[in-house]
Amino acid sequence: MKLLIMGAFLGSLIFSAHATDQAMLDKGKRLYLANCIQCHNKDPNLKGSLGPEMIDAPLSVMTSKVMTGLYPAPLPAGFVPKRKTKAMRKIPKLQNDIPAIYAWVQSVKKKK
Ligand code: HEC
Repeated sequence: MKLLIMGAFLGSLIFSAHATDQAMLDKGKRLYLANCIQCHNKDPNLKGSLGPEMIDAPLSVMTSKVMTGLYPAPLPAGFVPKRKTKAMRKIPKLQNDIPAIYAWVQSVKKKK
């Protein structure tokens, strides 16, 4: 009996973690479509009208671009910016939502 209760408890824990992940991805997608596709492609694997594909940018780079408009200095090891321009505007109101946007972008990454 104890085991059964434990099992149900663990099961619901796993289930709710999963549901939270999905909610985070849905939110990330919604915010990406609302805030990024004026310039970036609807598909983050592809380049958009003004902004490059962002699929290779790590979270630290996305955070810096969204919070300041600029690439971080120094750049993370191994990361090569797609552009040398400074055309992106900062969108600091998204501060708390960058992890969700990043999680969604990476969830649609095409395998190379
Ligand atoms: C006004 C147009 C515009 C908007 C809106 C915009 N970006 Fe950008 N973004 C750019 C441009 C242009 C670049 C290329 C560097 C530059 O000129 O700033 C870029 C570069 C990036 C990069 C670096 C990609 C790389 O690998 O070099 C990331 C990450 C990024 N943007 C994320 C976002 C996210 C996330 C949003 C929405 C929350 C967003 N951008 C909204 C124009 C925009």
